[in-house]
Amino acid sequence: MAYYGKISRGYDELYKEEQLKKLSIIKNSIKVNKNSKLLDVGCGTGISSQFNCKVIGIDSSIGLIKQNNKTKVLGIAECLPFKSNSFDYVISVTAIHNFKSIKKAIDEMKRVGKRDFVFSILKKSRKLGSAKNSIRKNFKITEIVEEEKDLIFFCEKP
Ligand SMILES: C[S@@+](CC[C@H](N)C(=O)[O-])C[C@H]1O[C@@H](n2cnc3c(N)ncnc32)[C@H](O)[C@@H]1O
Repeated sequence: MAYYGKISRGYDELYKEEQLKKLSIIKNSIKVNKNSKLLDVGCGTGISSQFNCKVIGIDSSIGLIKQNNKTKVLGIAECLPFKSNSFDYVISVTAIHNFKSIKKAIDEMKRVGKRDFVFSILKKSRKLGSAKNSIRKNFKITEIVEEEKDLIFFCEKP
């Protein structure tokens, strides 16, 4: 998405505070241990990747990825370069509504995840409805938390 390339230098200044609030809600609900493998899809600069476990992030923006000092790869959510069932947790924080194909991205995230998934989606996005439908079709939703800007879906692979 060209937008993130343009604002990449100022991303943390613009969004860090609000993203950390969402991260804190997610961290309270999923209990990782140091050996858990977590994939952060649309990881950006790595704000949403701060977990005490083995984290890999993936993002399509070179500008944001360059500022990310965690383990990450440049790539797209619609074609994840990982083996099936290889992550204990797959999360995507304020990113799904930006993906070109939500359907492909959801299929891919479901494929690489074992059981637990968290999707945080901007409430004001016009794609919220379709993203929600896609999540419902593919997962068992265990909880939906309404945060100030996002709806956070906690899900399991059925
Ligand atoms: C609002 S930012 C969220 C970044 C990060 N999760 C956070 O909480 O700060 C949305 C991210 O989605 C990424 N993105 C957009 N389309 C993508 C795609 N098709 N595949 C992977 N990442 C994508 C953008 O580059 C951007 O980093």
